[in-house]
Amino acid sequence: MFESLTPAPPDPILGLTEAFNKDANPNKVNLGQGVYKDAQGNTPVLRSVKAAEARMVADEETKDYLNIAGLAAYGSLVQELIFGAENAIVQEARAVTAQTPGGTGALRVAADFIAKTKPGAQVWVSDPTWPNHPSVFKAAGLEVKSYPYFDAATNGVAFDAMLAALRAIPEGDVLLLHGCCHNPTGVDLDASQWQAIVEVVRARKLLPLIDFAYQGFATGLREDAEGVNIVAAGVPELLVASSYSKNFGLYSERVGALTLVAGSTDAAQAALSHIKTVIRSNYSNPPQHGAAIVARVLADPALRAQWEQEVAEMRDRINTMRHLFVETLNEKGVDRDFSFIARQRGMFSFSGLSPEQIKALRDRHAVYAVGSGRFSVAGMTEHNMDYLCSAIADVLNG
Ligand code: LMR
Repeated sequence: MFESLTPAPPDPILGLTEAFNKDANPNKVNLGQGVYKDAQGNTPVLRSVKAAEARMVADEETKDYLNIAGLAAYGSLVQELIFGAENAIVQEARAVTAQTPGGTGALRVAADFIAKTKPGAQVWVSDPTWPNHPSVFKAAGLEVKSYPYFDAATNGVAFDAMLAALRAIPEGDVLLLHGCCHNPTGVDLDASQWQAIVEVVRARKLLPLIDFAYQGFATGLREDAEGVNIVAAGVPELLVASSYSKNFGLYSERVGALTLVAGSTDAAQAALSHIKTVIRSNYSNPPQHGAAIVARVLADPALRAQWEQEVAEMRDRINTMRHLFVETLNEKGVDRDFSFIARQRGMFSFSGLSPEQIKALRDRHAVYAVGSGRFSVAGMTEHNMDYLCSAIADVLNG
């Protein structure tokens, strides 16, 4: 049976990491996968995470299965982190949270839940979006459509075109939005734009699904939740897919969450029962370790303060790299205007480089980036910046 199989194409992002790892060039630079690098080019375990893990090893008494929806304490803490503890949604128990294997796991559980409970609903994603979004929804049998988002002329949001397209979405469809740090463009909506989207969501009776993978990487933990909270305050129902890969540096632990907001506690609980059937037939129940770390850090005031400081350090460092990148390109005599990169947010920016230029960067200089031209700014360091910018100057100059 397997003799007839031809190889599937490599994943546009994770396949790059595989190729990068095999590359023998000592100067190689990985701007592909969104992974934070410190000044030494390492992806460190956060100090708050190490401390929580040490306590967990000492305290742990069992590795019995978790519930289908995961650790209860984790679910409450996730809701507080998204909405704030005082939020009516939390106070009135109108939200339910399932712990999931990473943000991708949350998206897939959401996709299966939508396919089961809203058959025929289409999922609308931004153009461009994270390349795995369409794959996840299609794998669940859902149809995926796109709405305009990025304006290459201004390196900003094509908001008028976006809003016009949203107004034409059929009633009852699902609208996928990026909570902050839009992947791949680094261009976010402002508060008034979020508000305008809420009006369309209400008018068209859409179900918003917010992918919230970078909380804390734009401006701050609370500030970055502004868009999610504008939506949460303005619509009756909402799904949020959270990831703690980036802001806790827990990439390999696969820790995320799917949070559903409903009009009442009963409706939320009924929805959760369906989410649980989806999980049970998929991976049965989630792994404990990553979520237990997150719960411990969030619940302990000292660890939490340390973690918030570490998130700020990562955010500040990425922003420093954004500015250094623009300055170094100028020093290399690149006349093309890259100043927009310093204004964008989160791990990614759209460089505007063509697929041919991205290929030349890789072939000639072992600089790896996604073919769309997305750069993971988080992969830049003081150490690789000079080499990187010389490579870009070389490619741009022919
Ligand atoms: C990315 O977009 O690079 C990250 O979200 C990692 C991934 O899984 O693709």
